[in-house]
Amino acid sequence: MARIEIEGGRTLEGTVEVSGAKNAVLPILMASLLTDQPCRLAGVPHLKDVTTTIELLGQMGVEISLGEGFEVGMDASHLSTQIAPYELVKTMRASILVLGPLLARAGEAQVSLPGGCAIGARPVNLHLKGLAAMGAEIDVDSGYIHAKAKRLKGARVVMEGVTVTGTENILMAATLAEGQTIIENAAQEPEVVDLAECLIQMGAKISGHGSTRIVVDGVDALAGYDHRVIPDRIEAGTFLVGAAMTGGRVKLVNVRPDTLDAVVDKLREAGAKISEGPDWIELDMAGKRPKAVNISTAPYPGFPTDMQAQFTALNAVADGTGVVTETVFENRFMHILELQRLGADMQIEGNTVIIRGRDRLTAAPMMATDLRASACLVLAGLVAEGTSVVDRVYHIDRGYENIEEKLGQLGAVIRRLPVS
Ligand code: UD1
Repeated sequence: MARIEIEGGRTLEGTVEVSGAKNAVLPILMASLLTDQPCRLAGVPHLKDVTTTIELLGQMGVEISLGEGFEVGMDASHLSTQIAPYELVKTMRASILVLGPLLARAGEAQVSLPGGCAIGARPVNLHLKGLAAMGAEIDVDSGYIHAKAKRLKGARVVMEGVTVTGTENILMAATLAEGQTIIENAAQEPEVVDLAECLIQMGAKISGHGSTRIVVDGVDALAGYDHRVIPDRIEAGTFLVGAAMTGGRVKLVNVRPDTLDAVVDKLREAGAKISEGPDWIELDMAGKRPKAVNISTAPYPGFPTDMQAQFTALNAVADGTGVVTETVFENRFMHILELQRLGADMQIEGNTVIIRGRDRLTAAPMMATDLRASACLVLAGLVAEGTSVVDRVYHIDRGYENIEEKLGQLGAVIRRLPVS
């Protein structure tokens, strides 16, 4: 299994380009299922989750072409099957995003119950409840969701909890439903907005995206799209935290600073000087040690759960005590045990972890457990004295494009070890 080796003690400095947002790319790729016209998505990052999605679409009969700079072309004019098999779905929870578009376009879908990150139960009940409210007949049997609807009907869908992919599934399904769908308590994440804008380009009638109430007036058919995906705010945030932890100065290009408000506020509180333009952001720590910060995760525009692990790593070396509370997912503290192996002083109490900052961590072998946790271990490796090795980096390859190359560009001494 691939491992990454990091030599601690280097300051991150320089400029790096942020990739397209994984969490926007996946639903937008799936949206190609909604039309028999060709689609083209630009700015797609080289990631395992993207490859899995392309494989899944290909298996359903979507013709895929890869263009220059990893543009992806899709032609879903002939679908060969409505089945999303366990072998693909188990590796990526976002595979559930085939359900809404497939059902809306083909009138039928069989999707394996998803796997994905080991960060709690992560059910899909709200996706199913929303589709059922729109008239779908749904059965769950032998690990598969079987959904049927001749044509979905518009409905008022009140989401019991805020769910990103749940909102996206209902949104995609509603574009081709008969009549009006109103999604209440919708997710407001920038990735939901990017998907909605792409759907509008396809001819969908959507308003209210980016708020908690999205209104969709169904149409009979959608055209193709030619879209460039928004930049990845979580990748950007991860590099900014790395710069803050190492006392460095980093400029990121291809960024949407307006999607990073909650993260930037916390970095400023930690002592970073931050300047930004329309598509760039720069963090300057001026060689200082960060101050500890308190974090509580929440749906957008709150502090993103996907940045929680990185801030626990920052607090591990910060001046003072930081309290980090995870409210979105249960069991998203697996990285804490690994950070403790570097000497971090952390104590878990329910969904909260209390972190007393240490002025030094010492290198140790670490094991990645999920996507964002693995990023935080790499960040910790940047500051730990000695050489750390992070094992099971396949988790990181699901969401970070060329992480060792990009951190290397910023002066980190980091390399991927050959598979032993
Ligand atoms: C998406 C993101 C992921 C991010 C998460 C929260 C993608 C591909 N992934 O995941 O990176 O960490 O949002 O910002 O966009 N829930 C239910 N029932 C449901 C659906 C969700 O109870 O039917 C619960 C989940 O268990 C969790 C919470 O709702 O506790 C939020 O999950 P959700 O927003 O759905 O996460 P994902 O869309 O899977």
